[in-house]
Amino acid sequence: MIINVPPLKCQGIKTKLVTWIKDHASLSGDGQWIEPFMGSGVVGFNVRPSQAVFADINPHIINFYNAIKEGKITAAIARKFLEEEGALLQAKGQDHYYEVRERFNKSGNPLEMLFLNRSCFNGVMRFNKKGEFNVPFGHKPERFAKAYVTKIANQINYVTQATSQYDWQFICADFKEVIAKAGRGDFIYCDPPYLGRHTDYFNSWSEASEQDLYEMLNSTRARFILSTWHSNRYRANNAIEKYASHFTILTREHYYHIGASEKNRNPMLEAIVLNYNPLTLVATETEKQLALFEKAENGYVVYSSPKD
Ligand SMILES: C[S@@+](CC[C@H](N)C(=O)[O-])C[C@H]1O[C@@H](n2cnc3c(N)ncnc32)[C@H](O)[C@@H]1O
Repeated sequence: MIINVPPLKCQGIKTKLVTWIKDHASLSGDGQWIEPFMGSGVVGFNVRPSQAVFADINPHIINFYNAIKEGKITAAIARKFLEEEGALLQAKGQDHYYEVRERFNKSGNPLEMLFLNRSCFNGVMRFNKKGEFNVPFGHKPERFAKAYVTKIANQINYVTQATSQYDWQFICADFKEVIAKAGRGDFIYCDPPYLGRHTDYFNSWSEASEQDLYEMLNSTRARFILSTWHSNRYRANNAIEKYASHFTILTREHYYHIGASEKNRNPMLEAIVLNYNPLTLVATETEKQLALFEKAENGYVVYSSPKD
């Protein structure tokens, strides 16, 4: 499957796991796709549901996508902006990056957000305690070369097309408010911040948030997939044992790179938690056998307890 990469990046982006998640999602005909932690939006954008609610607590993400939906940001507008600001970045180097960052922290302009997100260090979104974007410069003054700007313009165009074709809403809200609205026939995809990692102003995630989320998922009438981590070389995610052992859990190995060196590849077992049994829905015979084989191998890959 060709993955359409969105114009904004964020930490924990699920580009590499989209196909796996999509293959196990179960959205019925007229139900809504509900994504309370949209981040970059890469999962729902590739599922392409005809009705969707994309939500996030970070208003800058939501403003950006609403600006696209309302035609205030188009591929042409973004191209012009990035070409002009990119030329200044090339001429003035990091001083220009920090000027734009200061401007953005006063204006909240979504085009400036795009510029920063695509030229900052590691292409992430991080905000300090005052809610100010605080990622340093990515050290590439020539960042907005023609091919790169075209790539971003195409990514914007993809969202423009989709928002004109489908009924997609973008709302800034806490996950509790969003999940509470889901009903039977809807499908919720949750990708909350991982506890103890990636924390910043819009990503403060505590034990209490984790517990609230599982409580809501326990009582929802909608089907859901929750992305989380299962274990890494050093420890296991005890929230799975604590809150999710009665759900279906599928895992998959994923490698995170720290720096450029191959030896810094950190294996992580990613998990998806589902309140239905996907094997009866989508799995081929080979997949079913593989799942059983994996379960026998390590004892934890599939616990299945279908909800209905
Ligand atoms: C791991 S990221 C989601 C990544 C996304 N699935 C992707 O592939 O790009 C988690 C997101 O949850 C948002 N978030 C954190 N706390 C939240 C809350 N209480 N309610 C709603 N969204 C929240 C963050 O702003 C962040 O964008």
